[in-house]
Amino acid sequence: LVLVIDFGGQYNQLVARRVRESNVYCEIYSYKVAMQKIKELNPKGIILTGGPNSCYEEGAATCEKELFECGVPVLGLCYGAQLMQYVLGGNVEAAPTREYGKTEIVVDTTSPLFSNVSEKTVCWMSHNDYISALAPGFKSVAHSDECPVAACENREKNLYGIQFHPEVLHTAEGKKMLRNFVIDVCGCAGDWKMDSFVEESIKAIREKVGDGKVLCALSGGVDSSVAAVLLSKAIGNQLTCVFVDHGLLRKNEGDEVEAVFGKDGCYDLNFIRVNAQERYYSKLKGVTEPESKRKIIGEEFIRVFEEEAKKIGAVDFLVQGTIYPDVVESGLGGESAVIKSHHNVGGLPDCVDFKEIIEPLRDLFKDEVRKVGLELGIPEYLVFRQPFPGPGLGIRIIGEVTAEKVRMVQDADAIYREEIANAGLDRSIGQYFAALTNMQSVGVMGDERTYDYAVALRAVNTIDFMTAEAAEIPYEVLNKTMNRIINEVRGVNRVMYDITSKPPGTIEFE
Ligand code: XMP
Repeated sequence: LVLVIDFGGQYNQLVARRVRESNVYCEIYSYKVAMQKIKELNPKGIILTGGPNSCYEEGAATCEKELFECGVPVLGLCYGAQLMQYVLGGNVEAAPTREYGKTEIVVDTTSPLFSNVSEKTVCWMSHNDYISALAPGFKSVAHSDECPVAACENREKNLYGIQFHPEVLHTAEGKKMLRNFVIDVCGCAGDWKMDSFVEESIKAIREKVGDGKVLCALSGGVDSSVAAVLLSKAIGNQLTCVFVDHGLLRKNEGDEVEAVFGKDGCYDLNFIRVNAQERYYSKLKGVTEPESKRKIIGEEFIRVFEEEAKKIGAVDFLVQGTIYPDVVESGLGGESAVIKSHHNVGGLPDCVDFKEIIEPLRDLFKDEVRKVGLELGIPEYLVFRQPFPGPGLGIRIIGEVTAEKVRMVQDADAIYREEIANAGLDRSIGQYFAALTNMQSVGVMGDERTYDYAVALRAVNTIDFMTAEAAEIPYEVLNKTMNRIINEVRGVNRVMYDITSKPPGTIEFE
C-alpha cells in the first residue's frame, strides 16, 4: 500500500491513478489524517500531493514532522515538496518568476527518482512559490532555467521532492518517475492487479458485514452492478437488491437486468424488481419543464424505494455504487473543491433504516470499475454499458413524457446503438444516444402526408463529461440509421444529428 496524502491539488486523482498503473495499490487520505492512523495503515511509501496554498501562510494545510521521521519513504509533489522542505527547515517563498506549463529541466540521472530518465526532459510546472533554500541533508537533483530546485532528495532518509507534476501526461517521463519511487525507492512489488482488489474487497466486506443484512439499490448501470456482484460474491443472499424499473430505461433494459440478477441469473442474491412504469407515467403526465421532470423522477424513486425497504425491514448496511470521481465531484472526500453535487449520491439514505453505508468502489476510477466487473465475470454488455443518467429517458424526451414517446425513443435509440456497434464504433465514442424532440413536422411516406416527430441523434467524445465535442460519425452510418429509424419507428418522420459541443450545449437535452 502506498498512501497518497491529499493537500487539495487539482491533479490528485491522477497521482493515485499513475501509482496504480505501476501495479501498486494506493489509497488517498486527507492531509488531516492522524499520524496514528498512518502508522496503522503501515504503508510502504507516502506521496504528498500538490495544493492551492502557500505552506508558509497561517492556516495552510500542513503535516507533522514525524511523518518524515517514521522511516517510510516520502515523495512530495509541488506543494508537497515545498511543505516537506518547510517543515524540515528549508525555505519556501514566492518565486521571482512563476513557472506555468511545459518546461525543460535538467535532471541528475544518478538519483533513484530519475533512473532511466533522459538528462534533459520536459515537465509540467505550475507553481507560484519555490524552494529557495533546501533543508539540511537535501540536495537538488533537477533544475530548470527559473527554478534551482525542480527536484530534491535526501537519499539517506528516503525523502524526495518534485516541484513539477509528474502525474500529468505533459510531463513526458513522469510515469517513469513515479514508478521509480514506488517500485525502486519504496520496494513495492508492482504485482497488484484487479484480482487482488476483488480478493481483498471480498475479505474486507465479509469481515465488516459478519452475518448482517445488506440492501442495495441496483440501477443496472456499471457501478451499481459491479458493487452488487462484489457483495453477492462476499455475502451471498444476505444481500437484497432492489431494482426500480421506472419505465424510462433503454429498450429491453429492465429484462436484461433481471436476466442477469434475477432468480434465473447467475448470482446468489435476493433480487426484487419493482415495476413502477405506470406510476411514473402518471406522475409525469402534462409536465414539460425539465427541472420539474427531474425532480419528480428523483422523488418518486425515493418513494418507491422506501416502500420496498419498509417491506424488507431494518437492514444493517446500505450499498452505494459510488466511485472515486463521484466522491471528488461531490466534494465528499479528499480536499478538492466541490465541482457539482452528484446526481446519484445522497437522496437514498434518509428513507432507509440502516446502520452504515458500504461503498466498495469508492477508490476506483470508471475504467478500473470496468476491469473489476470483467474480473467478476459480469457480461461485457453490462460492463461496457454507456453512461446513462438517473432520470433516464425522461430527460431525452423533450417536453411531456408519455408511454408512446418512450416507445419511440427506445426503438430509435436501439437502432442507433446497433448501427454504431455494427460500424465498430461502440467502444470508441464517449457517449451516444437518440433523443425525441418536441418538434412535429410535415413529411411524405408512401404518397401519404405525415405529421410526425423528429429524432435527434447525439454522439460525443469527452474526457471528463464536463466538456465534450460532437463525434464525427461516418455519413454512411448516420444515413443507415436514419433510414432504419424512419422505416421501423412508427411516429417518427425526421432524423437529425446534433453537432453542438459542450459548452454551450450539454450532453443530455434537458
Ligand atoms: P450533461 O447533460 O450535464 O451530462 O452534459 C453530463 C453527463 O452526466 C450524465 N447525467 C446524469 N447522470 N444523473 C446521472 O447519473 C443525472 O441526473 C444526470 N444528468 C446528466 C450525462 O448522461 C452525461 O454523461
